[in-house]
Amino acid sequence: MLSLRLQKIASLINSSDKVLDIGCDHAYLSIYLAKRNIKVLASDVNAKAMAQARINIKKENLDIPTILSDGLDNIDTQDFNTIVISGMGTSTILKILNNKEKLQSISKLIIQSNNNICELREKVTKMGYFIQNELVVLDNHKYYIIIEFQKGKKKYSYQDLMYGPVLSKDKKNKEYFSHLLDKNEAILKQIPKSNIRYRHNLKKHIRIIKKIINNN
Ligand SMILES: C[S@@+](CC[C@H](N)C(=O)[O-])C[C@H]1O[C@@H](n2cnc3c(N)ncnc32)[C@H](O)[C@@H]1O
Repeated sequence: MLSLRLQKIASLINSSDKVLDIGCDHAYLSIYLAKRNIKVLASDVNAKAMAQARINIKKENLDIPTILSDGLDNIDTQDFNTIVISGMGTSTILKILNNKEKLQSISKLIIQSNNNICELREKVTKMGYFIQNELVVLDNHKYYIIIEFQKGKKKYSYQDLMYGPVLSKDKKNKEYFSHLLDKNEAILKQIPKSNIRYRHNLKKHIRIIKKIINNN
């Protein structure tokens, strides 16, 4: 059974997408997509992960191409239009995407980063993609944010980059923003009064999050 997080990622993929699953690990997502007749290639930098992915694919009697590759290095991207990168940190994700030529055919990126989501939004939108969709999922007591980027340009405010232009406007995400508010308020309580700058910054974020919650 696919994790809730990977199910949410899969929900952003449709039948016309030709998918590169970069950092596929056990290839669970690739297998799920291939079973739904979606063209997918599974790739990972780690030889052990790739070997296990191949075993899992064989067990399912599926014909999914696999490539051992650091990011897009060994992959011919021409026949693909979608890249999925999930379960890594923003700096690794940005390194993988730092390849203009290989991104030429790629109109859609589905990214789930484990950290620095604001930097991810900022840098990927500067690369010529805009934010088409954003989802949040609570899986095993942890919130994950999944972003779908499409080729094109849009301007974003600091608040958009920080909290998500789609995410922060969707009523369904109230619980997530309430969780963020609780987290920030708890941190504020721990910060000594002498740490004026940090407290000021936290208070600013608390105000923004409250505004998001009240507007939804
Ligand atoms: C935590 S797993 C996530 C697996 C799967 N994408 C998911 O979301 O469940 C991260 C995977 O990314 C792979 N990885 C890390 N850096 C990579 C890179 N530069 N190129 C390709 N794969 C990479 C790791 O080997 C590992 O299998």
